[in-house]
Amino acid sequence: MNNGDNVQVGYSREDWERHYDEDDLRWDLNEAAPPLVHLWKEKNFSPCKAIVPGCGAGHEVLFLAKKGFNVTAVDYSHGAIKLIKSTFKKNNCLGEVLHQDFFELDYKYNESFGLMLEHTFFCAINPNMRQEYVKTAKRILKPGGYLIGLFYETNEDGGPPFNTKKEDIEKYFSSSFKIESLSKTLYSAEQRLEKEWLVVLKKRTQESINEN
Ligand SMILES: C[S@@+](CC[C@H](N)C(=O)[O-])C[C@H]1O[C@@H](n2cnc3c(N)ncnc32)[C@H](O)[C@@H]1O
Repeated sequence: MNNGDNVQVGYSREDWERHYDEDDLRWDLNEAAPPLVHLWKEKNFSPCKAIVPGCGAGHEVLFLAKKGFNVTAVDYSHGAIKLIKSTFKKNNCLGEVLHQDFFELDYKYNESFGLMLEHTFFCAINPNMRQEYVKTAKRILKPGGYLIGLFYETNEDGGPPFNTKKEDIEKYFSSSFKIESLSKTLYSAEQRLEKEWLVVLKKRTQESINEN
């Protein structure tokens, strides 16, 4: 993770693998992110086909599965896949586990998800992949589908985790997504207090794009 001398270089797949091999999951909260759990208490999102990119150990995957979502869990690290597969088996989760690069999702997934749940994946990728992230999210979500997540404002240089400012979210997402809400959350884990943007984005339909 960020040690100050890897500004904008980011992580390779091998770097992530090493974290799992060394059992160093310093980002892992060991539970679904509290702001997301709280959001679900406030709003009753109906179960649908959902995807969690860069799912890691998969706490958010399990959270959604327990709420009745059919979840596709994606991660390209062997270590993450081992953990999430065991969670799927133990809990009889509905959905599938994909061991692959999120940005290379097959075209059969185009417009197939009603929800994409983001938690410390956007900040994990190199910022030069952010456009590609939006492109992929737009490609795989149904029109009107939701991208809900936490975006990490580290206020630090370098990464991962890479700093995400409010303006970054607006800049990258607003042409393809309607920003339904974007605010700092009070419910972050202690080490991330006041540093997380809780965001609800709705993929624009062709009609809503034409209206603007
Ligand atoms: C910081 S961890 C976050 C894990 C999990 N979302 C969490 O919050 O606990 C980032 C994860 O993204 C995965 N990852 C990074 N780039 C990826 C990519 N291009 N495709 C799929 N997974 C990726 C890494 O293997 C790692 O498990």
